[in-house]
Amino acid sequence: MRLDKYLAHATGMSRKEVKRALHKSLVTVNDVVIKNSAHKLKEDDNVNFEEQSIAAPKPRYIMLNKPEGYVCSNDDGTHPTIAGLLHDEVRPDELNIAGRLDVDTTGLLLITTDGQWLHKVTSPNHKQEKRYLVETADPIDPSAIDTFAEGILLESEKHPTKPAVLEIIESHMAYLTITEGRYHQVKRMFAAIGNKVIELHRESIGGIVLDKSLEVGEYRPLTTAEIEQVQ
Ligand code: URA
Repeated sequence: MRLDKYLAHATGMSRKEVKRALHKSLVTVNDVVIKNSAHKLKEDDNVNFEEQSIAAPKPRYIMLNKPEGYVCSNDDGTHPTIAGLLHDEVRPDELNIAGRLDVDTTGLLLITTDGQWLHKVTSPNHKQEKRYLVETADPIDPSAIDTFAEGILLESEKHPTKPAVLEIIESHMAYLTITEGRYHQVKRMFAAIGNKVIELHRESIGGIVLDKSLEVGEYRPLTTAEIEQVQ
């Protein structure tokens, strides 16, 4: 991690304040004054600010019940962002969302400052199952169960989707579990069978299930057990 990022996250100082502190020679790494904000820290480096040892910032893991109409990015000209829902819990520059949702999709969002954990959640190699509740414009043809289980070629793609599990619960409603995270994947899978998704809600990622006690727009830290679900 860069020295300025480490100090900002560990102390709550702004990047500007950190820069000033570095300029004033108030920061040492392993007892050597460092003035360069971009200085790369190694695992066991000992960082001091005004002669006080500064412990490494702890990674944070959050689940958020995403409302409709919010975008999963730091800044958007037209829609409110989920960064705004987090009340400075996570600084915009460290906001990593594991599996973004479309503006009109609701449900489980995982947010973390831990890059390695993020990789495990999002990397196709780790095949984390994502379960969605889907409502469609037209009745869902039961043949979709086999079609999705076999994999389906999405428009303008070369490779079919990986096997997915469709559980039809009502004529226009189903659970779909996928292990990939292609662009608009669920909507495009239904479009490929001639149907249209009108509501989409993510219930779980891997073993992490959206906490039913979270109101729309609310969030909470993940428990240790939840963090460890992702292996
Ligand atoms: N698939 C979609 O089409 N949209 C989402 O938001 C998530 C998965």
